[in-house]
Amino acid sequence: MQYDDVIMGRRSIRGYLDKPVPRELIAEVLALAMRAPSSMNTQPWNFHVITGEPLARIRRGNTERTLAGEPDSREFRKGVPFAGVHRERQVDVAKQLFGAMGIERDDKDARQDWVLRGFRQFDAPVCVIITYDKVLEGSDDTPFDCGAVTTALVNAAWSRGLGCVINSQGIMQSPVVREHAGIPDDQVIMKAVALGWPDDSFPANAVVPPRKSVDEAATFVGFA
Ligand SMILES: Cc1cc2nc3c(=O)[nH]c(=O)nc-3n(C[C@H](O)[C@H](O)[C@H](O)COP(=O)(O)O)c2cc1C
Repeated sequence: MQYDDVIMGRRSIRGYLDKPVPRELIAEVLALAMRAPSSMNTQPWNFHVITGEPLARIRRGNTERTLAGEPDSREFRKGVPFAGVHRERQVDVAKQLFGAMGIERDDKDARQDWVLRGFRQFDAPVCVIITYDKVLEGSDDTPFDCGAVTTALVNAAWSRGLGCVINSQGIMQSPVVREHAGIPDDQVIMKAVALGWPDDSFPANAVVPPRKSVDEAATFVGFA
């Protein structure tokens, strides 16, 4: 696959085939992803690649604790709730996804089911938990570097026919993830990536959220 095909073809995948992903293929994808640049080449990232029974336990614990009203214990800072144009984009992508899935605005049960799907990491056969070395906590470079490697990961996966969705829902209950994945205390949980073979019949997988234009995003200085 050419670079442009990967970049323009990739989209978040939220429905997966019930088909295992070979460990060697995931290792190959991770090796590609780790060509990502990082601040001073510190490579602060770690990957916990989980499948099978431990993943089932994480899904259960994450869902049950959240439904029981246990507060969100994610380890990254969230900032203020979205407003203005950011809120508009958030609402737009939700509308696109709900539209594709045929979920009506006032259908609370269907909306709840969708949210629960996220807590289960979209029932993907594999979940990759991205962590960083706690000793580097506090530097903005660290989450920046994790973002770089995670973007590289989803693109590398796509180039091999695999789909992913980066997600924060799957790590809503960090202690559960930590326990069942065996994540040591000297690592901070940053994000989850659901990974597997895309189910092309799953309607939300066809959603391609728009991007703002280069004119909106970029300021060119000193050009003719
Ligand atoms: C940091 C981050 C967190 C995300 N968390 C979630 C999530 O919890 N649930 C979800 O369905 N998608 C999540 N996404 C996926 C975004 O919604 C998606 O990347 C965005 O809408 C652009 O769509 P695309 O990936 O299909 O191009 C997340 C993406 C990022 C980068």
